[in-house]
Amino acid sequence: MSAQRDGFSSTFGVLAATLGSAVGLGNIWKVPYLTGANGGAGFLLLYLLATLVVGLPVMIAEITIGRAARTDPVGAFTKLAPVRRPWWVIGVSGTLAAFLIMAFYSEVAAWVFAYVAKAVAGGLLSTDPKTAAAIFSKLVSDPAQALFWQWVVLLCVGGVILMGVSKGIEAVTKKLMPILFLLLVAIGIRGLTLPGAVAGLEFLFRPDFSKLTPAVALVALGLAFFKLSIGMGTMVTYGSYFRADQDIPATALRVMLADLVVSLLAGIAIFPAVFAFGFKPEAGPSLVFITIPAVFASMPGGAIVMVAFFVLTAVAAMGAMLSLVEVPVAVLAERFEISRRRALLIALAGIAGLGVFAALAQSRTADWKLFGLNPFDLFDFLSSNILLPAGGILICAFAAWEWGRQNFEAELGRGSPPRKWVFAALTVLMRYVSPLLIGVVMLKGLGLF
Ligand code: PHE
Repeated sequence: MSAQRDGFSSTFGVLAATLGSAVGLGNIWKVPYLTGANGGAGFLLLYLLATLVVGLPVMIAEITIGRAARTDPVGAFTKLAPVRRPWWVIGVSGTLAAFLIMAFYSEVAAWVFAYVAKAVAGGLLSTDPKTAAAIFSKLVSDPAQALFWQWVVLLCVGGVILMGVSKGIEAVTKKLMPILFLLLVAIGIRGLTLPGAVAGLEFLFRPDFSKLTPAVALVALGLAFFKLSIGMGTMVTYGSYFRADQDIPATALRVMLADLVVSLLAGIAIFPAVFAFGFKPEAGPSLVFITIPAVFASMPGGAIVMVAFFVLTAVAAMGAMLSLVEVPVAVLAERFEISRRRALLIALAGIAGLGVFAALAQSRTADWKLFGLNPFDLFDFLSSNILLPAGGILICAFAAWEWGRQNFEAELGRGSPPRKWVFAALTVLMRYVSPLLIGVVMLKGLGLF
């Protein structure tokens, strides 16, 4: 593109921003809620496998494609394809996924923002499951509050993006993530010392394979994609801001490991408390919002630390949302040659429009069901379990077959060439293992085969 492209300023900046995209509500909200709803340890194991075997190669492929093309995810595939074939559908499907994810993600972030306000006002501390559930359901079932907080979230996202890629994203992530990490450790320690906490650890680490079905496997696979922000061009977009000498496999590996650790920590912070206080692990999307305040209620000084926890969770959510919105913004700005500011406004308007349906899914739109899912769950299902994995198949196919091994290896090897076996392993994973695995899990999970 002829327009000047902003980029990441340092190796650490790249790592921080990529990690900022991956770590978010996915770790703190979605991993615990899905693990609870799908039987615990067995599900966690599948998610781990999917991350290692499918997630890592797709992530490396995406970043490499992005860095080679140095443009948005729709343009990237057109630019790199040796012959004209419609690989740009990957970018289009990714853009659609970004809208769908933002529509419900901004609402979960809205709950976090609202909980910051509630934590400051001091109305949250209760270890009683009924009270905790009532506080949450009062918030989500009130259309005015649900919409108000969603719009606050979207305004914040817009504000930060206008400050520019490197400054905005790096600055925030670098400083605050380590503190969130420490807080999760502290919550975990508190949770583990509660009477009855052991049942939570058993739930997390002793697999009961009878709970695993093809549909559960698809949810675990979708979670792996969602967690690593892959399958939709986020990493193509971020890769396009990577420096030429950045070691891509090492960066991807570090991001994946750190992300897994945060997910596990969140699990350890939440499940012992779930069992100790008598919450239900299968509570659904509300799980974190009702459990965490209970842990803090049982901690000296908990009221203050809880404010910090929700603020930091909000920051983590921001990092992820910035990367989500970056996809449509880059696509709109670079495909239609409009300013980033205008692209941002269009994207946010679209997200707000779609977001209304997700925001009101506990009130006005609760009965608007498609495939038995309300708009919130539907947006989540369509993006995580269909668009992202399908995108993953296509990205692997593109990198390993269409773009070609030589081009892929040449780009990956710039700066710091990885070992030979890394190339060989990546080729096998991208050509055969990942696409096949994703394909089978999708067909089986959707009951099509
Ligand atoms: N990985 C982010 C999280 O876990 C969500 C996300 C998905 C971000 C897809 C970008 C793209 O919260």
